Amino acid sequence: MSLLTILATGGCAGQQSVLDPAGRDAEVLATLFWWMLGGAVVLWILMNGILFYVSRAKEREFSRRTAELFIIGGGIVFPTVVLAVLLSYALSEMPRQRDLGSGLTVRVVGESWWWRVEYLPDGWDTPIVSANELRLPTGSRSEIKLAANGVIHSLWIPALGGKTDMIPGRETRMSLEPETPGDYRGQCTEFCGESHALMAFGAVVMEPEAFADWLDKQAQEAAPPTGTESIRGREVFAAEGCGGCHTVRGTPADGLVGPDLTHLADRRTLAAGVLPMTEAAMIDWLRDPEAIKPGVHMPAYGHLDDADLSALATYLLGLT
Ligand code: CUA
Repeated sequence: MSLLTILATGGCAGQQSVLDPAGRDAEVLATLFWWMLGGAVVLWILMNGILFYVSRAKEREFSRRTAELFIIGGGIVFPTVVLAVLLSYALSEMPRQRDLGSGLTVRVVGESWWWRVEYLPDGWDTPIVSANELRLPTGSRSEIKLAANGVIHSLWIPALGGKTDMIPGRETRMSLEPETPGDYRGQCTEFCGESHALMAFGAVVMEPEAFADWLDKQAQEAAPPTGTESIRGREVFAAEGCGGCHTVRGTPADGLVGPDLTHLADRRTLAAGVLPMTEAAMIDWLRDPEAIKPGVHMPAYGHLDDADLSALATYLLGLT
């Protein structure tokens, strides 16, 4: 495989690549990158060509006028024109990148080390709360209000657009215009503590109708557990006081410290992009979250026996 093929198929593609854009903002950034890369390659060849020419060509005197023309042309006029063109292009894109759009509004809060996600569709008085996964519809520009709890984080979904910092005590904003439905990946890009690298999230882009259906379902309360294992799991959940930190809408659990679990199993990943949403991973997480995500505020439930852990995992994975 040639180096170019590796670059084209490996580094540049995938669900977390700036160079594989799935949204209008990322497209602008990717185009800008390719133009700059192309320009850099041309300049590199030009400079090395000149260097080669003056060092290897037959020795001869250049007139003072030629030298001056070369310095003024190559050192002042040429870079001024190139930089002015690049700057004008970048500035011309800024109003559209800043436009907050008329689509959906979502609020995302950076926590230690997970993401609180609140959908604020028109006509709803209370936010529809979720966590660790951001879903957006195609065909409109969504505004994303950003905040942070405790320390600075930064939200970045490379396939959809640029990044914006999340600052405690202040609300920052970004907007995204996704174009291609699919599963993408975002990551915190501001060092925020020991589990900064373990602070990822899924970004799912959906067709508007599918998104509306999904959001309607998210707004509903959790379905009560069916099956003995699941019902036992709910009893363990209550007895262990999980509801002190987590909310499961439609039950007495109304804690606000940790992620909302009402539709937990609907998410692609567990523990903010770190684990798959499977029973084995759920049990590992419940038993010793600190081993998986250092510094996490969630206590360990290793004192529970295997049967209780399994029942708890069954209940949680039933929260679709
Ligand atoms: Cu949050 Cu780094």
